[in-house]
Amino acid sequence: MLIQPKIRGFICTTAHPEGCAAYVQQQIDFVKSQPPLPHPPKNVLVIGASTGYGLASRIVPAFGGGARTIGVFFEKPGAETKTGSAGWYNTVAFETAAARDGLYARSFNGDAFSNEMKQAVIEAIAKDLGTVDLVVYSLASPRRTDPTDGQTYNSCLKPIGAAYTQKTLNTDKAEVYPITIEPASDEEIRNTVKVMGGEDWELWMDALASGGVLAPGARTVAYSYIGPDLTFPIYTNGTIGRAKEHLEQSAIRLNQRFGAGSAFVSVNKALVTQASSAIPVVPLYISLLYKEMKRHGLHEGCIEQIQRLFATRLATDQPPELDAKGRIRIDDWEMRPEIQAAVEMAWNEVDTENLRRVADFEGYQSEFLKLFGFGLPGVDYAAETDAVRACSAGT
Ligand code: NAI
Repeated sequence: MLIQPKIRGFICTTAHPEGCAAYVQQQIDFVKSQPPLPHPPKNVLVIGASTGYGLASRIVPAFGGGARTIGVFFEKPGAETKTGSAGWYNTVAFETAAARDGLYARSFNGDAFSNEMKQAVIEAIAKDLGTVDLVVYSLASPRRTDPTDGQTYNSCLKPIGAAYTQKTLNTDKAEVYPITIEPASDEEIRNTVKVMGGEDWELWMDALASGGVLAPGARTVAYSYIGPDLTFPIYTNGTIGRAKEHLEQSAIRLNQRFGAGSAFVSVNKALVTQASSAIPVVPLYISLLYKEMKRHGLHEGCIEQIQRLFATRLATDQPPELDAKGRIRIDDWEMRPEIQAAVEMAWNEVDTENLRRVADFEGYQSEFLKLFGFGLPGVDYAAETDAVRACSAGT
């Protein structure tokens, strides 16, 4: 079939297998162009491994350190008449490249929140690897079914306490306009914490430990975000921020259970992923941030962020440097005062007319399309392609 982008709001409903493969290959090439990781983990489990930060967290230890990886994700395989999701094709490409380099890679497609998925992964680790020494928790999900009571909880992206009015960007129509978001109810706050907080991370670590598949001294990392004052009401002080607070408390509890220095929260940079494009206001901030960071030669995408996270914080012979709240800060370049001051100035100025001049909207759009395998050099988008592709998680 011929595969073209079909954009609906902040999501693209098609994905291109060769394009996704080219994008994954770009990321692998970048990692291979860097010095090998000084002290790489040997066996890595990545939960949320198919796109964004999780995919980068699989690529970096594999191709920068020869790690054997198991990836868990929730993706759609392709069918004769319908494309699969990008994360499916990314995984097909990752596994093909891993096999070429003689690297073990196994993938599981399904609900990471379920007991069944945890059990299947534990059995695979026990059989194939014995233990894992690093667990990356990089899930971003709009809902979670709690395996203990079978109830499904939905997360939301809302402020807490008061309505929030701010500029936002319709990325499809290139329009900047004001948006008002009403505050979340107590139930919505609780539900968002249930989905995006650290409860499931802790369940995974407890299950891996009682399954006997954590190596002595094994470490785990989960990802968070803080960002600037201007997005505080919708992010850090909003429902998702409440969930991230819970994630940080989970890290404290995990360190108590498994030993100090075993669990980390890494605060990462804001960048274009399927998850971040769904957050109001944030895509406009990202477009302005990209412009400034590119101007200063500091721009990073997922792969550059995670490469730096491993090379300078996680895969060294020293414990990582932490902030006053015990978090890794790989958002340090984003939060530099000169970057933030410039973004704030541009924020006050940006509107629909000057969007392409003041912000890196083109950069945003091309990154967004790349997430789904579109706009990659060397890919013939006019050619017929087979949407059915196999990986170890199925076809
Ligand atoms: P993403 O949307 O690119 O990736 C989400 C991953 O979770 C995918 O692999 C998806 O298949 C998997 N997933 C979702 N629901 C699942 C389920 N029920 N079972 C199994 N797998 C499931 O998201 P992104 O942006 O990479 O986010 C990952 C983490 O990084 C999140 O915790 C997010 O808050 C955090 N983060 C993201 C930032 C950003 O700007 N994108 C900035 C800082 C942190």
